[in-house]
Amino acid sequence: MHSALTTLRDARGVLKHAFPVLFVVASLFVMTAVAETSPAGGSTRKTENICGGWRFHLGDLKDAQAPSFDDSGWRLLDLPHDWSIEGEFNKDNPSGVSGGALPGGTGWYRKTFLLPGSVREKLAFIRFDGVYRKSEVWINGHSLGKRPYGYSSFEYELTPWLRYGGDRNVLAVKVDNAEQPNSRWYSGSGIYRNVWLTTTDSVFVDHWGTFVTTPEVSRDVAGVKVRTRVRSVMHGDQKVTLRTVIVDGNGKEVARAVSEENIPGNSVHEFIQDALVRNPGLWSVDSPALYNVVSTVERGGHEGDRVETAFGIRSFAFDVTKGFSLNGRPMKIFGVCDHHDLGCLGAAVNTRALERQLQILKSMGCNGIRTSHNPPAPELLDLCDRMGFIVMDEAFDMWAKEKTQFDYHLDFAEWHRRDLEDMVLRDRNHPSIFIWSIGNEIEEQWDNKDTTGSVIARELAGIVRTLDTTRPVTSNCNDDKADNNLIRSGALDLLGFSYGHDDYHLFPERFPGQKLTGSETTSALETRGHYDMPSDSIRRWPTRWDKPFTGGNADNTVSAYDNVSAPWGATHEEGLKLVKKYDYISGMFIWTGFDYLGEPTPYGWPSRSSYFGIVDLAGFPKDVYYMYKSEWTKDPVLHIFPHWNWKSGQVVDVWAYTNCEEVELFLNGKSMGVRKKTGDQLHLMWRLTYEPGTLKAVGRSGGGVLTDEVKTAGTAAKIVLEPDRKVIDGDGRDLSFVTVKILDEKGTLVPDADNMVHFKLSGEGKIAGVDNGSETDLGPFKADYRKAFNGLALIVVQSEGKAGTIHVEASSDGLKSSTIDIGTR
Ligand code: GAL
Repeated sequence: MHSALTTLRDARGVLKHAFPVLFVVASLFVMTAVAETSPAGGSTRKTENICGGWRFHLGDLKDAQAPSFDDSGWRLLDLPHDWSIEGEFNKDNPSGVSGGALPGGTGWYRKTFLLPGSVREKLAFIRFDGVYRKSEVWINGHSLGKRPYGYSSFEYELTPWLRYGGDRNVLAVKVDNAEQPNSRWYSGSGIYRNVWLTTTDSVFVDHWGTFVTTPEVSRDVAGVKVRTRVRSVMHGDQKVTLRTVIVDGNGKEVARAVSEENIPGNSVHEFIQDALVRNPGLWSVDSPALYNVVSTVERGGHEGDRVETAFGIRSFAFDVTKGFSLNGRPMKIFGVCDHHDLGCLGAAVNTRALERQLQILKSMGCNGIRTSHNPPAPELLDLCDRMGFIVMDEAFDMWAKEKTQFDYHLDFAEWHRRDLEDMVLRDRNHPSIFIWSIGNEIEEQWDNKDTTGSVIARELAGIVRTLDTTRPVTSNCNDDKADNNLIRSGALDLLGFSYGHDDYHLFPERFPGQKLTGSETTSALETRGHYDMPSDSIRRWPTRWDKPFTGGNADNTVSAYDNVSAPWGATHEEGLKLVKKYDYISGMFIWTGFDYLGEPTPYGWPSRSSYFGIVDLAGFPKDVYYMYKSEWTKDPVLHIFPHWNWKSGQVVDVWAYTNCEEVELFLNGKSMGVRKKTGDQLHLMWRLTYEPGTLKAVGRSGGGVLTDEVKTAGTAAKIVLEPDRKVIDGDGRDLSFVTVKILDEKGTLVPDADNMVHFKLSGEGKIAGVDNGSETDLGPFKADYRKAFNGLALIVVQSEGKAGTIHVEASSDGLKSSTIDIGTR
């Protein structure tokens, strides 16, 4: 399935010692960080992250792939890198406002490195987790290949073109994101995910060559099937032993299988081994137990290769009438859709930034992620495995018909098979993945004449099933009629609907015998900290989609009372009520968990990021976050809003999201009444005449009491810095997200503060980005200053590769400044 290896090896002994790979940066020899899976003296496989010390040039150049090309004047940087996020917002950037209004273009990356002569006997591979987009990679002037799709991971073999000893090797990568628009959201540009160099023995576990399934799962025992593709590039037969050991989360062996095989020269053998795990720890969203398959390839009495594959043991079902169940327990998937950008960090992947997003969602009770609308960074899936999220892994936003002029539809015919296969092969061991999605709101749904919709749907679903039959195939359909080409193709195991909320009650009759889910729901809109009253007048601008949004505010804000939604969608409360109401709807994936760059519905410029998130672009929850938390967790929740700075005499709606049995509200000590949720109510409300002071809510349940309060703030007086982590790894990657609060003299958040804050860093760290969650702020994300927005700003601090201290100072005219220290270890 993958391009055949280009190397054929003579019979050779196995090198016994690990070897260093040396990278040349300017005239320095630098040893890169090593992610080693093998013990000393053991396997010769070595995988290194090679993101450090690349040269970058923005713009196209002739012959920049040539080894002799002089790149000494290029910028030196570390990957992952996204050059678009460093640019300036401009409505005339060709990405368009929907694409995030940041620049694209063409860029070149180069890396020069040395390999010791001892590696001459090894095979070498380079893996790119993702390059946006249209990449071409060269080693020492030889083109390894092109990859148009910006979200696929891919590997090339380097071996035949490598030089050893004192001769330099030059990797060159051209990235072409010049043709725009090519995306409906912000894509980023560059080598925005990790890059890895692997060296192996000549008989080795093939790329993505392990496939672990659990055909039988019960509380007592699990049957585990491990398929392992072992490739030999030797001449002649090789007697090979594959030792497969299953270890639990504590590293304790729980099962093993050993097989021996004669593998003919230059061929691949698939081993199929079965094992039993007694009393397995079942993977679930609350307790995501993980196991590892350790595959060891031995020949001639030596360990030649060793690969570890994480997997989980769980059973699940989508039922026509009862919906989803996990390990026999019925539950709803309460998930969100998210795009891949990380706010002010852009598309450049960072594990801690992903983890923070998932922690914020987990603490809300969210249990699902849809990787809209493309294969994600592998780190996201590893985190979902570990943290317990149910993932819908999605391949494409379009097939052969375009959504934007230069998008993937131009590459679909040539590349769809390869890209889809690669997604499934890369991702199919992740226990977090429960659903494969072959497309989002595909234009071919309506392709009645030539029915290409049905033909392509069948082909794509068939590609997935050739590689994995353990998860259902879906496609997110925004045509919820029975004559939708994708639905009537019969190719989908799970019918996934994009909105169509008003028709949910008709689905069992319209789609008899089908399994159903809300694969995209809601599309409500909110600006953190902005409130338009009356709160119970729901605005769904306009009833006709082709009319502009007329109900908006001059400053492009949208009310955070959950009283605005897109016309095709629903408010958060409406969406949740519907999904709860119908057992046959397996779950929901809310559009979206986080705000993202681009698609600033319902406005246009100067808005440049979306309003759909439950959490804003900076990671600050909007009020509705607590509605979900009160419903989806058992944590005691009482959250009242809005802020308490209004005009005297103004009528203000006060809402509470809570799971308390009753809530009493006090304004300056006087009771404003007790409220209890009845029926399917998701919030409580009081309509009060404003007077300054303190609004205090007292929630009661059983004997327990919970309180929350908002106070009238005075003028802004000081800054407070609150890091999410006070000690981070000094590995040059780890991050501390520091919330910047603008407070009055008494320590109350000033709800409309927009002070310009300046940051000064010293010590072992740097600023990775700044933000404030506003959808309209056109200031740069890579800066040492940021205006607050509705009282808050964010500075993302990154360690610089050393242990020590990062000293952060924040100052603003007229405000008392603030300093904190963040340790790096
Ligand atoms: C859907 C689409 C998403 C996003 C969303 C906004 O139709 O699948 O990508 O555009 O609408 O409401």
